[in-house]
Amino acid sequence: MKRILFLITGLITSIFAFSQGNNYAQNYKKFDGLAMTPPMGWNSWNKFACNVDENLIKQVADAIVATGMKDAGYTYINIDDCWHGERDSLGFIHPDPKRFPSGMKALADYIHSKGLKMGVYSDAGSQTCGGRPGSRGYEFQDAQMYAKWGVDYLKYDWCNTEGLKAEGAYKTITAALRKAGRPMVLSICEWGNDKPWIWGPTVGHSWRTTGDIFNCFDCVEDHGSWKSWGVMQILDKQEGLRQYAGPGHWNDPDMLEVGNGMPEHQDRAHFTMWSMIAAPLIAGNDLRKMSKETIGILTNKEVIAVNQDKLGIQGFKYAAKDSVETWLKPLENDKWAVVFLNRGKAAKPVEFDWQKTPITDDFAKRELNAAKTTYKLRNVWIKKDAGTTKKAFKATIPKQDVVMLLLSK
Ligand code: GLA
Repeated sequence: MKRILFLITGLITSIFAFSQGNNYAQNYKKFDGLAMTPPMGWNSWNKFACNVDENLIKQVADAIVATGMKDAGYTYINIDDCWHGERDSLGFIHPDPKRFPSGMKALADYIHSKGLKMGVYSDAGSQTCGGRPGSRGYEFQDAQMYAKWGVDYLKYDWCNTEGLKAEGAYKTITAALRKAGRPMVLSICEWGNDKPWIWGPTVGHSWRTTGDIFNCFDCVEDHGSWKSWGVMQILDKQEGLRQYAGPGHWNDPDMLEVGNGMPEHQDRAHFTMWSMIAAPLIAGNDLRKMSKETIGILTNKEVIAVNQDKLGIQGFKYAAKDSVETWLKPLENDKWAVVFLNRGKAAKPVEFDWQKTPITDDFAKRELNAAKTTYKLRNVWIKKDAGTTKKAFKATIPKQDVVMLLLSK
């Protein structure tokens, strides 16, 4: 009898909870329809680290328009770590009043008035990596503030998360963003520790696959408890992740270092490879002071088109010989991008006989068979047509540089 009473009470409580709208149910799914091609924009971290304030952000928003980057597709102006001030007596977060005296809503309004979108940064743990207040325990309040300010993109980091489970922590912030109701891109930044490519696609729009990049083409910097990685090291760490990327959910090999000090040929190779692997293209340099060469790289529309291809298929390494790698990316309308990447410190000749090299991409279910179909070649960096696949392609690839071809029927 006692048992029956117990069951009935339980049943009544559940019915009551549901009739109240079931306040406990949360939506752990990201906003759909965002980032259908890899997000493009700018982020403050790589160049400015903690030195961010509203004047810098406004100047960068002006520069992204003035330099033609907005026209080339860059949309998000993302403020990384260290914008934070303190939480108020109710726990709501506010920006640092010295650095952002006009407040975040005014800054978002400014950015939006330029036809751009605004991103902010937080962390799943108690503190951000830069020691500012993290969102742990304040997820729903933080999401409400971001929505109120008009934020469009949240990068959510993974420092100081002792005892947390990554999947659960990221689902919590997703639920909070859902509850706040303003569609935002969620950029998962847990460095690939807990295989975010497995659980990330429904929770966020991109996930970092590695630790932090730094502006070196082929090196590792050891900081003791962590390392930062050069461009080639990060590229190698993308191995095996191709099948997880697609429209709305991208592998993120970290932000661009183009314009931060590497020579032009290395910057070009970096930008090309990020385009080939369908990476978010988030510039990380000072857009107010760019050389002609840097602008030329960041705004090359034909290269960007490869990155932004609607099919959203991540490219793959087809072959590697000596220091030269051959990469391919299937594109819509039966096009292909083909890149010869020379990682070495001496120029290398390449010869690629399309007729004798039929290529099958099992993942994308695509075939590049020049014996059956003739493709026109376009050399996209020098912006010149380069014959067809009837003839073998011959070129010399300068050291740590690329030749990128677009194949179309
Ligand atoms: C981590 C992230 C970086 C950057 C810093 C900020 O290292 O991986 O991209 O956001 O934190 O402190």
